[in-house]
Amino acid sequence: MMKKLLILAVFGISALSAADGAKLFGAKCAECHGADGKEASIAGKAIAGDAAALTKLTGYKNGTYGAEQKATMQASISGLSDDDLKAVATYVGSLK
Ligand code: HEC
Repeated sequence: MMKKLLILAVFGISALSAADGAKLFGAKCAECHGADGKEASIAGKAIAGDAAALTKLTGYKNGTYGAEQKATMQASISGLSDDDLKAVATYVGSLK
C-alpha cells in the first residue's frame, strides 16, 4: 500500500487525491474487486489498471454503461460524488 502511494506521488499525482482514491477503493470497492483490483469472481474480470474506469463509472451512474449485473455497480457508487468517482477511477487506473 505505502509502496503504491509512493509510486503515485512519484508520478506527480497529488498525494491527497491518490490517498482519497485509495481510501474510497478500500471502503467501497475492495470487497468485490479485491484489495488490488484483480478479483474477478464477482465482476467477471479484473479492473486493475483500467484506463477507462472513469468512463465506465460515469456510465454506471447515468445508466449508459453496464452488463447484466449493472444494478450492483449502480448501488455501489450511488453515494459517490463526481469528484469521488474521479479519485477512485484514478486509483483503479494506477493499480498494476
Ligand atoms: C457489491 C459488489 C461490488 C462493489 C462493492 C463494487 N463493484 Fe464494481 N462491479 C461489480 C460487478 C458485479 C460488476 C459487473 C457489472 C456489470 O454487469 O456491468 C462491476 C463492474 C465494475 C467495473 C467495470 C468493469 C468492466 O470493464 O466492465 C468497474 C470499472 C468497477 N466495477 C469499479 C468499481 C469501483 C471503482 C467500485 C467502488 C467505488 C466498485 N466497482 C464497487 C461489483 C461490485
